[in-house]
Amino acid sequence: MIMTFPKNFVWGAASSAYQIEGYPQEDGGGLSIWDVFSHTPGKTFEGNTGDVACDSYHRYEEDIDHLKKMHLSAYRFSVSWARIDPEGNGNWNPGGLAYYDRLVDACIAAGITPYMTLYHWELPQALEEQGGWQNPGIVDCFARFCRMMAGHFQGRVRSYFLLNEPQCTVGLGYGSGIHAPGKKLPLPDLFQCWKHTLLSYGKGATSIRQTDPQAQIGIATTGRLCYPETPADADAAREATFAVSDNDWLFTHQMTLDPICLGRFPDCAPGPLKTCMDAVTEEEIAVISQAPDFLGFNIYNGWCVRTGKDSPYFIPRYDGFPRTALKWPVTPEVLDYGVYLLWERYHAPIYITENGLSCNDVISLDGQVHDPNRIDFLHRYLLCLRRCCQRGADVRGYFHWSLTDNYEWHSGYSERFGLVFVDFPTGKRILKDSADWYRTVVDSHGSVL
Ligand code: NOJ
Repeated sequence: MIMTFPKNFVWGAASSAYQIEGYPQEDGGGLSIWDVFSHTPGKTFEGNTGDVACDSYHRYEEDIDHLKKMHLSAYRFSVSWARIDPEGNGNWNPGGLAYYDRLVDACIAAGITPYMTLYHWELPQALEEQGGWQNPGIVDCFARFCRMMAGHFQGRVRSYFLLNEPQCTVGLGYGSGIHAPGKKLPLPDLFQCWKHTLLSYGKGATSIRQTDPQAQIGIATTGRLCYPETPADADAAREATFAVSDNDWLFTHQMTLDPICLGRFPDCAPGPLKTCMDAVTEEEIAVISQAPDFLGFNIYNGWCVRTGKDSPYFIPRYDGFPRTALKWPVTPEVLDYGVYLLWERYHAPIYITENGLSCNDVISLDGQVHDPNRIDFLHRYLLCLRRCCQRGADVRGYFHWSLTDNYEWHSGYSERFGLVFVDFPTGKRILKDSADWYRTVVDSHGSVL
């Protein structure tokens, strides 16, 4: 039997605004928290900023051309809120909107379906100055932005991811402070930020649906996923994946998806976190729990677990365990068991909105970029994803992270995640070997794997 992915499975690649566009203030754009953060000495690798990035603001047509060269039919990109709403007050910037008009129209003309992320971390600085995600007022600002975008792109964009990884917005931006705006808040304040992201999703979803009843709504989350060492450890993997504790609550999918999809927070033991959760009112939960049309999962790696005496045992990684250039472990099983666990719990259509790796890619003497490690990684991960589909999970598509090398946040340009190499001094793009390989996967609908 030839093994392929489900019939209408979507093959795509992903990016985000601040990471690729550059020129954030051109044509009337406003400052975002990432402009301010990246220009603050000591915050990013070698002081790298997104001032130019891949210059996709001017070179977006080349990006789309590369999607076409790989025979991809979908592009997940994000819009910069600050480019469109420079002061965060609903005084929309026509110059910023015009850029996204050009991008969306070019995708459609190329036969590529746009999947638009509305918030991928670059909050307008003007809103940060009013407290950012700490301020309850942000919820209405985001809902207003969502409503305007849904109206503006009605008939052209159908699929929206409202938030990308709220776990990082809050955990890295306001918890560890390694991302913009670089704050380190204590749990109760952090939880307020968290609640505001959830309320923003809920009100944003409602305003999009009221504006464009055809729109399909999702959210892209990340978090701990576990897979069993042997089939007998399946329950341990489930338990380890869905446990929530005071120390380890943010980087879980269920802290976002339980309230959104199931209308309640996950169980956790009494303690400060539980006190915060219990203070969320029924009315707030009602705002938050807008069932999405699909779920997006950003998945890079997971944990192997075994049944322990009292609780699941996280198996330590052996010396020399396979790792990417960023030292993230290579654990393809997570796209099989991890995704299946999420399917079991939420039973909503799934897109893998991000998956990929950073490699030490260079232009070789022959002028090409050879990246066998990326091919091997993708081969392994996609085989597992195919197995997950065969086991019955409703996975609708896969977006490789990333389309091009880009600005990897506080790591700057030191990490290369793209299928397309970017020579940053010139902006020149080169398809890597993995891009050619990915095209064969797409053409065969996964049967070459
Ligand atoms: C998650 C984020 O959404 C994306 O912006 C980032 O570049 C990748 N993961 C890789 O770290």
